Amino acid sequence: MAKVSIIGAGNVGASAALFLAQRDVADIILVDIVDGLPAGKALDMVQAAPVQSFSVSVTGSTKDYSPVAGSDVVIITSGLPRKPGMTREDLLKTNAGIVKSVTESVVSQAPDCILLMLTNPLDLMTYQAWKVSGFPANRVVGQSGVLDSARFSYFVAEALGVSPADVTAMVLGGHGDTMVPVPQYTTVSGIPVTQLLPKEKIDEISQRTRDGGAEIVNLMGVSGYYAAGASLAKMAEAIVRDQKRILPASALLTGQYGLDDLYIGVPIKLGAGGVEEIYEIELDEESRTELNKSAAFYKEQLQVLGY
Ligand code: 2OP
Repeated sequence: MAKVSIIGAGNVGASAALFLAQRDVADIILVDIVDGLPAGKALDMVQAAPVQSFSVSVTGSTKDYSPVAGSDVVIITSGLPRKPGMTREDLLKTNAGIVKSVTESVVSQAPDCILLMLTNPLDLMTYQAWKVSGFPANRVVGQSGVLDSARFSYFVAEALGVSPADVTAMVLGGHGDTMVPVPQYTTVSGIPVTQLLPKEKIDEISQRTRDGGAEIVNLMGVSGYYAAGASLAKMAEAIVRDQKRILPASALLTGQYGLDDLYIGVPIKLGAGGVEEIYEIELDEESRTELNKSAAFYKEQLQVLGY
């Protein structure tokens, strides 16, 4: 049985674990720094197994990384949310420190794994994990585009009164204010969304997608986790089952789109080899300009991190 470890047994980590368990993808290890939390969530989850008919194991570990050994995929969700009085820069540096120490612990136990990152600011923390791990770039990937595209898809489905299952959306760029929803490649059962909704409505949905994380925080005081957890599970499953899914994710660019040496959301092929291919697709003028703006922002932020 394949093994997926999830570092951080908070809301997102536990949601990812549950979605993965329900699909019988892999045995799951939850790791956290809080005493009892990962073991408690794991025990609660496996007690759902007889009801939900899954047979993978889910176990928890506090501070001890030895159960992570031999993992095929390690998902890193560890990090702090922004606290009052904290600047984005403070958060950036704090989480970069957390990601550094977690990545070192993971690499010492599972030197052959694929790292799937979730900690915010996502594209920067994925770069940090890549640098710290010393892994080849195909084995370090960040989840954001699957979630952002899911939000875009959902809002399109809602506007049209159709099934979300029929909407395929594409959101590129960084996971933040500069994300780039791409209507050109957003379709409803193959029909371009641009033929189904007026430009003003698509623009409104694009903005709601960019603000999608904040909308949920404003409603309930913490970040969302079901959709993020489902997105992590989809990506981990693609790797474990070598599905070669094409999806948007944060990957290291080495010249594609005229961009170099940064992680940012682009369409990739995800399989057992991790990022097996990066697709350089044609973008219209508006999307290309937005992608360049997003990249410029993250380049600047990488400098703040000392890269
Ligand atoms: C989200 O987009 C906060 O990144 C998190 O929901």
